[in-house]
Amino acid sequence: MTLRNTTNTRPNPGGLASLAGRSVARIGYGAMQLEHGDDEPAIALLRQAVELGVDHIDTAEFYGAGRVNARLRAALHPYPEHVVLVSKIGATTDPGGPYGLRPAQQPAELRAEVETNLRTLGLERLDVVNFYPMYRTPGVPADQRIDFDDQLAELVALRDAGLIGGFGLSHVDVDQLQHALPAGVACVQNAYSLVDRSSEPVLELCREQGIAWVPYFPLGSASPELPKVADRPAVREAAARLGATPSQVGLAWVLARGPQTLLIPGTRSTDHLQENLDAGDVVLDDEVMAALEE
Ligand SMILES: NC(=O)c1ccc[n+]([C@@H]2O[C@H](COP(=O)([O-])OP(=O)(O)OC[C@H]3O[C@@H](n4cnc5c(N)ncnc54)[C@H](OP(=O)(O)O)[C@@H]3O)[C@@H](O)[C@H]2O)c1
Repeated sequence: MTLRNTTNTRPNPGGLASLAGRSVARIGYGAMQLEHGDDEPAIALLRQAVELGVDHIDTAEFYGAGRVNARLRAALHPYPEHVVLVSKIGATTDPGGPYGLRPAQQPAELRAEVETNLRTLGLERLDVVNFYPMYRTPGVPADQRIDFDDQLAELVALRDAGLIGGFGLSHVDVDQLQHALPAGVACVQNAYSLVDRSSEPVLELCREQGIAWVPYFPLGSASPELPKVADRPAVREAAARLGATPSQVGLAWVLARGPQTLLIPGTRSTDHLQENLDAGDVVLDDEVMAALEE
């Protein structure tokens, strides 16, 4: 399919940054919310995102048991060359498991999940995969507590074979990231926002090492059990003062954490999509920053 080309240059929402050697707009799109709802609006939203300048889309084969990857393929394949697709490994679809997932941590399972993503997305090479190492995660069965070095060796082998362009790590602490640095880490994907700054030391290490920081839950997630950035009084006050929305203030704050920070907010709403891309134009002055820091 051909996407409408409304301008000669892409608008690059949020400016540009580097991800696994590719240049991408700093505001991208996280596709997890497309697990829900019908195909048609999901496909329309993905096409609109790319028309509006999104060139970095975060997905996983296990989102909606393959539904999200199928929608991405239906919406965008053959993918425009400038679009960077990022998926996840370390878990796989398990309809009977919690969240419909189970760990898939063995090196052969990492490879199998990459191959499944390639098949379902219709690709020969996946730009980036994020890997969630679970050897310290509570409740993970013994046969899934795999030596991290064996997993890193498999990720390097997948990259050397050209099946992935690079790999990132997800849910990691400073020790794990330090340990993995010699293997070449393209990005880190931890939860991070104005309502969850627990990964600040990992962000600091990414900053030092020039590693792309691509936090998930930048708005506090869709889960009713987790706090929302837009509900914070300081965020609402800043939004009123700046003529922005609270979500835009929350996203602009994450962007301001460093030039290597990339956003992947998730939404099923075309209005929210546009709003999130426009967050790159929101400037947080010193007074607002100080109020948000408090
Ligand atoms: N590595 C990992 O383990 C991991 C884990 C979770 C997620 N992820 C990735 O991170 C991405 C982002 O996380 P997320 O989607 O779970 O959470 P999020 O981006 O923090 O928040 C999504 C929620 O915010 C709402 N929202 C979005 N834009 C809004 C706006 N402008 N105004 C008001 N509400 C807005 C969405 O509802 P509407 O649909 O109504 O807009 C949705 O309920 C995911 O899509 C996924 O790709 C990675």
